[in-house]
Amino acid sequence: MRIVLLGAPGSGKGTQGEKLVTQFGIPKISTGDALRAAVAERTVLGKQAKAAMDAGELVADDIVIGIVDERLQQPDARKGFILDGFPRNTAQAETLDAMLKRMGSGGITHALHLHVNDEEIVSRLLERATIEGRADDKEDVIRNRIDIYNAETLPLIAYYRAQGVAHTVDGIGSLEEVFQRLVAVVSH
Ligand code: AP5
Ligand code: MG
Repeated sequence: MRIVLLGAPGSGKGTQGEKLVTQFGIPKISTGDALRAAVAERTVLGKQAKAAMDAGELVADDIVIGIVDERLQQPDARKGFILDGFPRNTAQAETLDAMLKRMGSGGITHALHLHVNDEEIVSRLLERATIEGRADDKEDVIRNRIDIYNAETLPLIAYYRAQGVAHTVDGIGSLEEVFQRLVAVVSH
């Protein structure tokens, strides 16, 4: 299984991705987590990414593509993977397809789109802000992240529909309810 999780900020990609890791025994690759770790460690890459992340803008394609390319070479990703937060625009999706081809792997098997309305997103992320204090969980930045998602990432649903692998799943409900919807799609 080579899964891409698509969904607005706060739609549950990270949360459901972890549950899918446990269910299917394949690794999750999160560009957001990798970038936050780089920012925390103050690496060169982290310094390059920080301003864009704090503003809710996309980090440069070459940076995130480099992260994913390196991670996909690891042996544990050979049997499959779950991508959380990548690809986020058409250029990234095309590069990912080229990468998989170069590695002699098949293409993406499931692009799972978690659908959640904007008000629920804002409410979830403002609540998370009080718990985790993520730098980009401020209302104006959250709204910008949603706008960028709609402009840059939503077109990927059509991109993956053209490959016959796109599925939209209702992201509202308990963690377990949403998870069972995803498992049903993947196991079908
Ligand atoms: P990234 O880390 O990918 O953030 P995001 O897409 O904004 O999404 P979140 O992590 O906020 O939400 P999520 O969908 O994972 O939801 P979660 O499970 O946490 O990216 C951050 C930044 O990094 C980007 O803005 C960009 O700058 C940069 N970046 C990353 N990838 C990039 C790329 N490919 N290209 C360029 N730049 C990139 O859930 C959210 C909250 O809701 C949690 O508190 C959770 O507990 C709660 N929750 C989850 N499910 C439910 C439920 N069913 N009901 C109620 N609450 C729920
Ligand atoms: Mg996340």
